[in-house]
Amino acid sequence: MAQVVRKLTVHVLKNNNVDSIIGNTAVRANSTWWSNVEMGPPDVILGITEAYKRDTNPKKVNLGVGAYRDDNGNPFVLPSVRKAEEILLKKSLNHEYAPIGGETSYTDAVAKLAFGENSPVLQNKSNVTVQTLSGTGALRLGFEFITKHYAKTRELWMSTPTWGNHPQICNTLNLTHKKYRYYDPKTNGFDLKGAIEDISKIPEGSIILLHACAHNPTGVDPRPEEWQQLSQVVKDRKLFPFFDMAYQGFATGDVDNDAFAVRLFVKEGHQVALAQSFAKNMGLYGERAGALTFLCGDAGTAAKVMSQVKIMVRVMYSNPPLYGARLVQEILNTPDLKQQWLKDVKLMADRIISMRTKLRAGIEGAGNKLPWKHITDQIGMFCYTGLTPEQVDRLTKEFHVYLTKDGRISVAGISSKNVDYVAEAIHKVTS
Ligand SMILES: Cc1ncc(COP(=O)(O)O)c(C=O)c1O
Repeated sequence: MAQVVRKLTVHVLKNNNVDSIIGNTAVRANSTWWSNVEMGPPDVILGITEAYKRDTNPKKVNLGVGAYRDDNGNPFVLPSVRKAEEILLKKSLNHEYAPIGGETSYTDAVAKLAFGENSPVLQNKSNVTVQTLSGTGALRLGFEFITKHYAKTRELWMSTPTWGNHPQICNTLNLTHKKYRYYDPKTNGFDLKGAIEDISKIPEGSIILLHACAHNPTGVDPRPEEWQQLSQVVKDRKLFPFFDMAYQGFATGDVDNDAFAVRLFVKEGHQVALAQSFAKNMGLYGERAGALTFLCGDAGTAAKVMSQVKIMVRVMYSNPPLYGARLVQEILNTPDLKQQWLKDVKLMADRIISMRTKLRAGIEGAGNKLPWKHITDQIGMFCYTGLTPEQVDRLTKEFHVYLTKDGRISVAGISSKNVDYVAEAIHKVTS
């Protein structure tokens, strides 16, 4: 560096030519500071979307991306969200900083949505709830808090398979992660026996990550009585349950139904952690509205935990963004708007459920002899079709249908216009 400065100084003295100095500096800097950086692997889902965009075939279908689309394949702005936007505009709000943990009018409303309006854990103020940068930010903050402050076994156990970002976040934080059985490829359903067997062997005090509803990527959720059994084994092993709830309302169309597992665990006395996201159920993908909750047992402990969470947020991003959270709280705290939102969520969930029915009927109607019941048994945005990587390859190459190699499809990408085509394509590659 000193050499560069010396050379430039001499250059200035000799030529007094600013343009050539700037040019010289740019060349030097580009070739020096980052030469050690290696090319990282591309994001799997984004890679699929890019390949889809490059494809010029008019029949192409993108079933990779996990974002809701209407029946014309377009992004959907919920009517309740539009209304909330109009209301906010009229309020002429300022753009001051939000509190480190977000506005309490937001955090109180989202905690009630998750745990229930009259939940005792909220009434006795034993919860810490902070606004986060959507669901990913909640997981990141929650896991990081664990690496710094959790005094028991720092092993995080996750389902096989799970959302790709779960292990990645752990890797970034050097948080040990291990797997328990969850999905049974033979039935394309929940492997209750395998899950219970594995969870029964998890070391006491470990953290167990659970998808609250609409499991990603499989679309396979435990039934209520199975959740009951899971709650018992988690209690017997003295595990710390960490719920990821990115799809409340998206699974069944009813936000209370979809919060069943979280509320059951709380009723059974578990002190859970919870990551929430409003990306999917309010269509606020890019606004990054989410929340992290730790239930702490009593208000005194909650106050201490809150103080440390705030310190962690302060040095990471200082305080959360306002706009998405304002929309969420406007909707949740205004009875008429909330009613409209509940209808909007149901509309999205119902469209997905009806596409599952049509897709299954289309494949079976084409005379396919394989079992396809799992398409309608599974729930939420994703369906784990059971297609092999070779069949996925053929779907993309021969039929221009794009999906991840594991055979996961985003049912939100299916519409009444393309469902017959997709069904026929799946039939052909599996026959
Ligand atoms: C299981 C799961 N958790 C969390 C998220 C977080 O999403 P976001 O950060 O957009 O809220 C997603 C999104 O796809 C998800 O599928």
